Amino acid sequence: MPPPAPTPDLTPDKARAVAGAAQRVYVLAAHPDWRDSRVNSRLLAAAQAVPGMDVNDLYGSYPDYAIDVPAEQARLAAAQLVVLVHPVQWYSMPALLKLWLDEVLTWGWAYGAGGTALRGKDLWLVATTGGPESSYHPQGYNRYFFDAFLPPYEQTAALCGMRFLPPLVLHGAHTAPQAEVDAHIATFGQRLASYPAWPELDELAECPACEVPASDRPSEEVASVAGLSQDARAPSGGSAVHAVTSAGAQ
Ligand SMILES: Cc1cc2nc3c(=O)[nH]c(=O)nc-3n(C[C@H](O)[C@H](O)[C@H](O)COP(=O)(O)O)c2cc1C
Repeated sequence: MPPPAPTPDLTPDKARAVAGAAQRVYVLAAHPDWRDSRVNSRLLAAAQAVPGMDVNDLYGSYPDYAIDVPAEQARLAAAQLVVLVHPVQWYSMPALLKLWLDEVLTWGWAYGAGGTALRGKDLWLVATTGGPESSYHPQGYNRYFFDAFLPPYEQTAALCGMRFLPPLVLHGAHTAPQAEVDAHIATFGQRLASYPAWPELDELAECPACEVPASDRPSEEVASVAGLSQDARAPSGGSAVHAVTSAGAQ
């Protein structure tokens, strides 16, 4: 299915962003309270400072949680790299970013029959945690290595035919020395500016989802037998995707 054309009711800002498709990088930054942010606010500013990026402050754009799905799909379709920037909250993403996934990555567009709009694109997670790296350990209070919390991201990417790039994670965001935070922000900005010329990309599989047999993908028939509406169709499990394992810590 070809990506949808930009809708005529885009705001001037969004239309400019979509028209500037040469940027090919869409940064979605989600923080429920930027005033309290030490690190993500600087990541947002760093992304905005890189020429040609399409940057969306998600909570700023949608304070009422009324996500403009056609506009978001147009911005995604124009990008080659999609970047999710957020603080880890309850071992996952902030609520508005989860809602964005629920509403924007629709069946028949992002996955399922004809859902090829994101196929071949890259997804990059850039996250911060409050817990220090030592807490993400079997003997730490978070009990699991940080990688254990990544499969939902990896599999979301895989089901959509996207390549999940090794995440950039800053642990202990409140207590990390200033020099470490500064270096992290600089790395992020350099990565955005130099994409796709990242050394580690050569070693990644081109399209992890290509390993999923077409018969294992959620089909319209299965969804209707299950009595789900199209919007409510959930990706089915059980596929044989080989997720890219990544070293979560920076
Ligand atoms: C509601 C909520 C849930 C959180 N859950 C986690 C968590 O599961 N793991 C963790 O390490 N930190 C957690 N934190 C801490 C945030 O990740 C941390 O404050 C943030 O990464 C700091 O980034 P910032 O300076 O940009 O705000 C949570 C914070 C809030 C407000």
